[in-house]
Amino acid sequence: MDSLKHKRIILGVTGSIAAIKSPAIARELNGLGASVYCVLTESAEQFVTRAEMAEATGEAVIASIFAQPGTAVRQQAGTPAPHKEQTWHVHLARSADAMLIAPCSASAIGMLRAGIYDNAVLLAAASLPKGTPLVLAPAMDEDMWLQPAVQENLAWLKSHGVLVIEPVVGALASGLTGMGRMPEPKEIVREFQDVMARSPRLPREGRETLPLQNMRVLITGGPTYEPIDAVRFIGNRSSGKMGAALARQAKKMGAEVTLVLGPAIPFPLLETEGVTVVSVETAEEMKQAVLKELPRVDIVIMSAAVADFMPEAQADKKLKKRDIADQFGRATLRLKRTPDILAAIGRLKRAGQIVVGFALEKGKGSEQYALGKMKEKKLDMIVLNDIAEEGAGFGYDTNKITIFTNDGNRESLPLMSKEACATVILQTVATRISRERSVESGELQFHHTKAKP
Ligand code: CTP
Repeated sequence: MDSLKHKRIILGVTGSIAAIKSPAIARELNGLGASVYCVLTESAEQFVTRAEMAEATGEAVIASIFAQPGTAVRQQAGTPAPHKEQTWHVHLARSADAMLIAPCSASAIGMLRAGIYDNAVLLAAASLPKGTPLVLAPAMDEDMWLQPAVQENLAWLKSHGVLVIEPVVGALASGLTGMGRMPEPKEIVREFQDVMARSPRLPREGRETLPLQNMRVLITGGPTYEPIDAVRFIGNRSSGKMGAALARQAKKMGAEVTLVLGPAIPFPLLETEGVTVVSVETAEEMKQAVLKELPRVDIVIMSAAVADFMPEAQADKKLKKRDIADQFGRATLRLKRTPDILAAIGRLKRAGQIVVGFALEKGKGSEQYALGKMKEKKLDMIVLNDIAEEGAGFGYDTNKITIFTNDGNRESLPLMSKEACATVILQTVATRISRERSVESGELQFHHTKAKP
């Protein structure tokens, strides 16, 4: 692997006990031919010293916003300083090929999201030119990791092109075992290469600014109503909020968006935000609208709760009780299957189109069921909606999802707003597309497919 040969990497270290692993990360990067420039926060210095980082990198270490030449602990003879006084962060950031913050604390994540850059690491990150990858390796205790603020901040950062090396389950500094442990240095560096290769950010020349720029996205949302007669129907409680959130976020990420929406609650602002809304009522109408758009789109996301059955016959007037009840006062409604829109898309899709399905399941066995559905309907991705969770599913503003991709990845997310869920789903799609395009154009020399635990 020589993907890091001659690359200049800024290694930011923030205040987490996992900082004791940072010298080993620097050595791994060095070993692959990269030059490493370390920036420390004051809190990081509680766990690792400037001298250790200078020793590991062979370069001067910066540990203060107001870095002075004297700050350099060790400068190798003949190596030009990677920074100049006062504006060191600008020069360092502009000269770098990428920045890795490992470990990245919960506070650093929050400050990056809020645009508060009041330590040396954040200042360097803020000074990276657009197109220079920023990769975070969060490390913290499980309860901190599960904080909605941390999850939402990360989702927001991801939607703005920041790359994340996910923590793993393991022994934590607190003595507890759980999610939040930073992977081991070798794994961090392997993933760093991997996420850099998958980065939706383009090289500096000719880069696009948004992850879904120039893409056409078709989203379905809401329920379908299957008429029984002129006034009655079979429907479900889907509010359409997940579809609307996906449409809004896809638009913000630069896509041209069409939302095919069943009879949900109205979303009057969507059209003013630039989303084309096509209103439909039945599964058959939804199928027609979807198939019309299908040939021209790059991405299809079927979040609609399509009715699986419709009455075999529909009366065009209001049915009278006396006309349908038998002598015991019972009435029978015969149903037939609605068209399976997603299965039809799976059959018709062209190479390069990404199709995402949704599965609404409850409790045990739901993952196997979702995986089966992804295979059977030839999907690229399936989003499992766990309705066993309080606050998830129909009508709520929050959701609890797990994303499975057909290359074996699995990402389980905590309860988050539907907007944040939409961002992560779309970011996963954008990453997938950019990776496929890089492979096609021969840009990638390697890539790993990672099965997450
Ligand atoms: N879907 C569809 N057309 C239908 C029914 C569902 O395109 N007629 C889509 C939904 O939009 C969703 C996925 O298929 O993306 C859900 O799959 P489905 O097999 O319908 O799930 P369930 O209805 O939960 O299936 P089951 O009753 O078998 O559990």
